[in-house]
Amino acid sequence: MKLFDVYPLFDINIVKGEGCYVFDDKGNKYLDLYGGHAVISVGHSHPYYVSKVTNQLNQLGFYSNSVVNTLQREVAQKLGEQCGYPDYSLFLINSGAEANENAIKLASFHNGRKKVLAFKKAFHGRTSASVSVTDIPAYSAPVNETDHVTFAPFNDIEFVKKELASKAFCAVIIEGIQGVAGIHIPNDNFLKQLREVCTETGTILILDEIQSGYGRSGKFFAHQYADIQADIITVAKGIGNGFPMAGVLINPMFKAVYGQLGTTFGGNHLACAAASAVLDILKEEKLVENARNIGEYLITELKKIPQIKEVRGRGLIIGMEFETPVKELRTKLLFEEKVFTGATGTNVIRLLPPLCLTKELADEFLVRFKKVLSK
Ligand SMILES: Cc1ncc(COP(=O)(O)O)c(C=O)c1O
Repeated sequence: MKLFDVYPLFDINIVKGEGCYVFDDKGNKYLDLYGGHAVISVGHSHPYYVSKVTNQLNQLGFYSNSVVNTLQREVAQKLGEQCGYPDYSLFLINSGAEANENAIKLASFHNGRKKVLAFKKAFHGRTSASVSVTDIPAYSAPVNETDHVTFAPFNDIEFVKKELASKAFCAVIIEGIQGVAGIHIPNDNFLKQLREVCTETGTILILDEIQSGYGRSGKFFAHQYADIQADIITVAKGIGNGFPMAGVLINPMFKAVYGQLGTTFGGNHLACAAASAVLDILKEEKLVENARNIGEYLITELKKIPQIKEVRGRGLIIGMEFETPVKELRTKLLFEEKVFTGATGTNVIRLLPPLCLTKELADEFLVRFKKVLSK
């Protein structure tokens, strides 16, 4: 059997990781400014993470959601404390799309409404409800077509107010920082007004913090820069540092109903050991603060580079927009300078490094990046 060919691949076989570096099967060492697509939060193969996951696997890898799982409670307790939502509840699943799927269903179960308001260029995942609120037509199959979703222009509060006045929308879903769109930050004032209009119209505010959350922006959640609270927050990517896991954080006003939500694998013992280790390391090594400081430094330095048209971001979620396509630049960075970066669209390079990136490594990246730019 061969693999279903849906990913354009770099011909590199990564076999090992350590901190902010990864290694291929030929022994080449790469600086990882991509974090495996914003997934590596506490660094590759962190010894504490490895020992927690290994110990758990030696004890018990999996049992079902039909029995008490104290590890889930431990994760919920630690997450609540660290993220600033101690009174919310946690529902655990396996991927970002699944998190948004459940968030949207929960909103609709709650107020009985059908419509969802999302934003132009949004990306929320590829399962049915998640892809319906994703503004990328190529990702939707005919079976996903729906008239329940309206896409609002980003940051346009008047448009949103007019739509929500109908009281037909169960939810508004918005990324803490738009990632796939090319790193676009919602205005703090827009988010404040969005919060208000959602409350006034009984619409649930869902913050998708799958890419921008878990400390990446320099606060636990990117929407906390606007000093607002969401009704539901979705998390994935960095939560398990590579272990497939996601979560839905749920306001106490939602009533839990047996059977309404469920999953076989979500919140399994091994995943919880990974998530618990991640939260311990984030706290112990002050990685949210580190993301803020190193991010600020990187953004300041990148803004000095004349070839870049615009630098956008907060903390360690950074987009660099160029006048021309970045494909060749990224390929040179990877193969000649051994640096992994991400891209989005044709002209934007995305930096999503592990949150443990040091100033020395940021400088190392800047040196290699400038070298490629000057070629
Ligand atoms: C903002 C956002 N939402 C949802 C998703 C979907 O997550 P997953 O690929 O784990 O389903 C992603 C993934 O890139 C994302 O960036």
